[in-house]
Amino acid sequence: MIRIRKIKTIAEFHACEDIQKAVWNFEDREIIPVNELITIQRIGGAVLGAFEPAGKGAGDRLIGFCFGMPGRLDGKTFLSSRMLAVLPAYRGMDVGFRLKKAQREFALDHGYDLVTWTFDPLQSVNAHFNIEKLGAVTHDYLVNVYGHSTSILNRGLDTDRFLAYWHVKTARVEDHLRSKSETPALDSLFGGSGVGHPEDVAQVNETFLDDLGILVSGPAKLKFATRWLLVEIPPSIQVIQTAHLPVAQQWRYKTREIFLAAFKKRYTVTGFITGNAPARGGTLNAEVSRRRSFYLLERTK
Ligand SMILES: CC(C)(COP(=O)(O)OP(=O)(O)OC[C@H]1O[C@@H](n2cnc3c(N)ncnc32)[C@H](O)[C@@H]1OP(=O)(O)O)[C@@H](O)C(=O)NCCC(=O)NCCS
Repeated sequence: MIRIRKIKTIAEFHACEDIQKAVWNFEDREIIPVNELITIQRIGGAVLGAFEPAGKGAGDRLIGFCFGMPGRLDGKTFLSSRMLAVLPAYRGMDVGFRLKKAQREFALDHGYDLVTWTFDPLQSVNAHFNIEKLGAVTHDYLVNVYGHSTSILNRGLDTDRFLAYWHVKTARVEDHLRSKSETPALDSLFGGSGVGHPEDVAQVNETFLDDLGILVSGPAKLKFATRWLLVEIPPSIQVIQTAHLPVAQQWRYKTREIFLAAFKKRYTVTGFITGNAPARGGTLNAEVSRRRSFYLLERTK
């Protein structure tokens, strides 16, 4: 049984460095080192680990971790979450979810109402995880915020990020943590009931497969006349980065244009719709041929 708890020993803090290397393959200069993590733990932040129990005599093995530190915004303190990572062999088993739930407990115990972090808008897994599983929202888009990164996930792309807002005391977050989301399922977009009245929702970018079977985005329709918008992203940007980097870069520039414009018009990302859709023909791999992923944005007053 995997246990979530605070990181305590220097050896465990070192294991956090190892996980950063294993998950992002960062060059050494990008790794957050032990001395920083220890300091964060001491000054009101939280460095939490997911541990797999080892056999007799051996220590527990760290298989995931997250950390966040105090920040100040609009005169209030909040928790700025900086990293969350789970080793590939343990993904899809709620380990990331449990780490974030523990981070939320920490935030509530220490008087933080808000936890923020950045994530890449083109990472479908992270979008589903942050917006749907956790109930975060975003209305801020940061362009190339970290400059060049050596992260394997970033390969060849500008480091554009959403700034996620996790209002940990709200009913929205509580509902999402209990899997109660109002976001419609994917099949409602394909011949089903739709997101709302058809006149209330607009799909900003149509997508199609190019000659190589790679998913590309058509031109953006930046009309912003509807209450809701749908913005499609690829189910796996990594597959596209590997197959043909210029197409991945096009995705970055097109979605940057869309989100910057939509946020300026007071839309907020409140939902993420993902799942298997009718297959669209021969593509790079089965995952890409079936899964579709859409951000749902709602105009706020
Ligand atoms: C993001 C990360 C921490 C998630 O950890 P995890 O333990 O796998 O998370 P969970 O098991 O709690 O949830 C993963 C969800 O992604 C979903 N998912 C998997 N592939 C997906 C895809 N292509 N598109 C959308 N969602 C996907 C899973 O179905 C699961 O959701 P569900 O429980 O509703 O079915 C992990 O993938 C990771 O370490 N990634 C690399 C580092 C990173 O990007 N960190 C930043 C996080 S903001």
